[in-house]
Amino acid sequence: MAENTQKKQTTGSLFDSLLGTGKPAPSAGSNPAKSGGFLDLILGSPPQNKAPKKKSADDDGISEGEMKTTEQLYEEGLQKVIDVISPSALEVGVRKIQLGDGTIARTFFAYNWPSQIHPNWLSPIVNYEAAMDIAEFIYPASNAAVMKMLKRKVAEMRSSLTMRRDKGLSRDPQLEAALEDAEQLRDMLARGFEKLFQFGLYITVYAESEDRMKKIQADLESILGGKLVLTKAADFQMEHAWNSTLPLCLDELEINRNMNTSPLATSFPFSSSDLTSDQGVLYGINRHNESLVIFDRFKLPNANSTVFATSGAGKSYAVKLEVIRYLMMETDVYIIDPENEYTELAKVMGGTAVPLSIQSNYQINPFDLPKAMQRNDDEDAKPGELLRSAVINLHGLFKLMLGTVSSNQEAILDKAILDTYALKGITLDASDFTGKEPPTLHNLVDVLQTTEGGEDMAKVLKKFTEGSFAGLFNKQTNINVNSQLMVFQTRDLEESLRPMAIYIVLNFLWNEVRSSLKKRLIIMDEAWNIMQYEDSARFLYGLIKRARKYYLGITTITQDVEDFMNSPYGKPIVTNAAMQLLLKQAPSAVDSLQKAFNMTEGEKYLLLNAGVGQGVFFAGRKHVALQIVASPKEHEIVTTNPEELSRRRKQATAEKERDEQKIEPITEKSSSLFPAPPPEELEKTGEDTQSNATAA
Ligand SMILES: Nc1ncnc2c1ncn2[C@@H]1O[C@H](COP(=O)(O)OP(=O)(O)OP(=O)(O)O)[C@@H](O)[C@H]1O
Ligand SMILES: [Mg+2]
Repeated sequence: MAENTQKKQTTGSLFDSLLGTGKPAPSAGSNPAKSGGFLDLILGSPPQNKAPKKKSADDDGISEGEMKTTEQLYEEGLQKVIDVISPSALEVGVRKIQLGDGTIARTFFAYNWPSQIHPNWLSPIVNYEAAMDIAEFIYPASNAAVMKMLKRKVAEMRSSLTMRRDKGLSRDPQLEAALEDAEQLRDMLARGFEKLFQFGLYITVYAESEDRMKKIQADLESILGGKLVLTKAADFQMEHAWNSTLPLCLDELEINRNMNTSPLATSFPFSSSDLTSDQGVLYGINRHNESLVIFDRFKLPNANSTVFATSGAGKSYAVKLEVIRYLMMETDVYIIDPENEYTELAKVMGGTAVPLSIQSNYQINPFDLPKAMQRNDDEDAKPGELLRSAVINLHGLFKLMLGTVSSNQEAILDKAILDTYALKGITLDASDFTGKEPPTLHNLVDVLQTTEGGEDMAKVLKKFTEGSFAGLFNKQTNINVNSQLMVFQTRDLEESLRPMAIYIVLNFLWNEVRSSLKKRLIIMDEAWNIMQYEDSARFLYGLIKRARKYYLGITTITQDVEDFMNSPYGKPIVTNAAMQLLLKQAPSAVDSLQKAFNMTEGEKYLLLNAGVGQGVFFAGRKHVALQIVASPKEHEIVTTNPEELSRRRKQATAEKERDEQKIEPITEKSSSLFPAPPPEELEKTGEDTQSNATAA
């Protein structure tokens, strides 16, 4: 019976602290009446019914106290979130708290700490497969007081050591070590390198059964015990201990230990052994344990990545955020943008946008050769080899331009390309190409026209030199890669020209990449444009395979997951990307993805039900559920939400108009005060004065 009353009281006080009303626990006697009131209020009967009844005992005036009680009762009667999320009942025991649904909770506290501890020691616990609430309480101590106290302690320890020596006793290594530590700490505190804190660590573990709790407790004790962080269950004070781990910032246990800044920093809880490293960029929040996913893709076996999701799931958003963050890590970024949606990014980040279209002034010559690499160990750096690989790349491009090419035609084309280069003095056995201007498509057409069997190909290619598609591919390159961010926009190109233009841009970038060793990223948005033709897909795959050696990471983004995976180069591209991001998927695509990525049923379900910016992130063999987050400033730069964009545009126009209105009266005023003569008049007056002067 006694135990029962205690239960009620503790539960009451617990809810008070949850609700934050801070009023004393109601007595057991008043409980039934009150719960009736609760029900009434929730069920919708007017709240006033209850309150007036109570005060009707002496209703000739409402005292301040009564008013307060009524208010309190009314407040309690409102339905709050807490009513929905809190368990229906709690039993606070000596060794555990039993929640209404049968879950048991037990809280542990750390009571012993090693003298040295490694960073990230808490991560095995954070990542442990069990529901846990971990609370850390950190109380800063005033440096002056600590210094004074340490001074006294040091004096005490010194005198004990001297006394031992004087008495001829043997050394006390423990005392000596303590003295040394204290002296060191004094030095650090005096120099301001460290501060002293009080630190408390409490962990509440939830389990569905007593057996499972025992297992988790054993694991927890051995994981932490292995690091000499010893824990005990907070028996006989379970409620206080549990309260201490709720997100209320209430330390009701107060089991603390002195700790200075450096060891304290090692307990930083936002770490997951999975995907957090001390270098790299933020990719998002780990949805398993709310830790941050931070890492550097250039530390993986290769820096390539693929991004798959349905339209509007947030692919471009995620990649743009990555780009902004990598730009801060001294990485050059080249983007192939088929939707002109990276323009804002280029503008804000000081990049260059290169619009490619028939009417545009920018041209890239597909016959360009890479500037030889400065590395001695690169076999491609030999001029002959450079030319050979350029010719092979051109074959792919011409196949795209010509449609089908028979093997006979291919041989003719090969010779014609080599002859075209030879016209400009670029041959396979030349020792140096520097200063030699590469040929253009015109030259090739001329050569083909005079070659037997090449006339048909010349006719088709003429479309790109003289016909309706002339202007883009048949001139010398006039683009300089001179900014850290380059965006190649292909939206305004004719649909049929797009794969060729992307091929040429990729070839151009590849030449750039090979000319100097530097950290770079190439982003291919809507990669399906290039994956649908075998020749361009093969080219892209070739680049992806070789990118690692050139410190390059290639990101392929696509929404046509099924087509991508069914293309002969789709799967190899995925296997050659160490990093993958899967956001929301369509039911039709999810099965093939599950097979390709070895996903669990849970992950598959997660992808089907993902919200915008949610997905599964793969780095090497590790996967985590990820939520992509941007700061408000970043969001402004990367969003493509038409509603937000149009609102912002309207705002900008309104601001501009306001500014103009503000300026106008001033100009009018100033012009009326000091009317500025128009330039011709100014000249005339000048002449007049001059003529006057001469006349005088
Ligand atoms: N993590 C996120 N947080 C908030 N908003 C987001 C997030 N990701 C995407 N969005 C919003 O969702 C919309 C679609 O995003 P995004 O343009 O990246 O889609 P997408 O997957 O590239 O689509 P598409 O394949 O059509 O290009 C945008 O309006 C963007 O602002
Ligand atoms: Mg997009």
